[in-house]
Amino acid sequence: MDKAFKTMAVFTSVIMFLLMIAGTLVTDTDSGMGCGSDWPLCNGKFIPEYTVATMIEYTHRLITGFAGIVVIIFSIWAWRRYRGNREVKGLAILGISFIVVESLIGAAAVLWPQSAEVLALHFGFSLLAFTGVVLLSVFVVQKDRSHLLIKQSVSKRFKWFAWVTVAYAYLDIYSGAYLRHVKASLACTDFPGCYPGNFLPFAGLPGIHYLHRVAAVVLLALVLGLFIYSIRHLKHGRPDIFNASLLALILTLLQGVSGVAVVLSRLNIFATLSHSALITILFAVLFYIALQTTKRPE
Ligand code: HEM
Repeated sequence: MDKAFKTMAVFTSVIMFLLMIAGTLVTDTDSGMGCGSDWPLCNGKFIPEYTVATMIEYTHRLITGFAGIVVIIFSIWAWRRYRGNREVKGLAILGISFIVVESLIGAAAVLWPQSAEVLALHFGFSLLAFTGVVLLSVFVVQKDRSHLLIKQSVSKRFKWFAWVTVAYAYLDIYSGAYLRHVKASLACTDFPGCYPGNFLPFAGLPGIHYLHRVAAVVLLALVLGLFIYSIRHLKHGRPDIFNASLLALILTLLQGVSGVAVVLSRLNIFATLSHSALITILFAVLFYIALQTTKRPE
């Protein structure tokens, strides 16, 4: 029973990750209209005719439906098993409600043209859904070992710092999704400067693009701060936070490298996919750190 439950937890997280990648593939390959403006049918049919864009969009819709069912089963299972646990309730609600919101925005984007501001919200909402589900899985897998991971409480200041970093990461994510939807991805073609003759633009699409890079540097500074504090104060008493902050630092550096690769490779599909995949994991890790700061030894 316990093994089946943990296997279900891991399976649910893997499906959610595939869903994120499928969603990114839709935007990266411009397949969003692969089913025309039909929803839930695809080009007026239940099983559409074959084109690459149609298959990408259709597979994305199928994975969304399947993931929704898996997440609901897993969340109800966890809810009943840890009846009364506030963390489980909160994460289950976060995961399910953002899957609903994300699907509604996705459907609305197909049915009616949306502004870049609204489209950019979609990526952030998907991340919140992913994070809720994955952290619920992590809770299930780690529950028996929590006494080994939580041997001391953390200071109020660090708790604040961790939550501010999560909120800031969310804004940085929005800036990335926004730059993409206003089509500023190649408004800067150089690195570290924007383009020959304009190192630091302040306006227009290059300004929007460059702001995302500056925001990335600030995020790196915040994550480095989390790591330095953890190495000094939490290495032995809170291995959960220490290990997660090390992972967050590595992921943030890789995120920056993949961002540079996106620009220099002129939007190579592997570079853009890895830029989205890395932030998906990074955001969940940052949220995990913040959530763990609220826990005390039992
Ligand atoms: C390290 C922190 C960073 C974070 C958290 C971050 C986050 C994001 C996110 C969430 C997106 C939208 C992805 C999507 O809609 O699928 C994005 C897009 C983008 N980012 Fe970043 N990014 C970071 C660093 C960078 C850096 C350093 C660069 C360039 C030097 C960069 C360049 C880009 C570009 C060009 C896009 C548009 C990609 C496309 O059109 O597919 N990013 N970023």
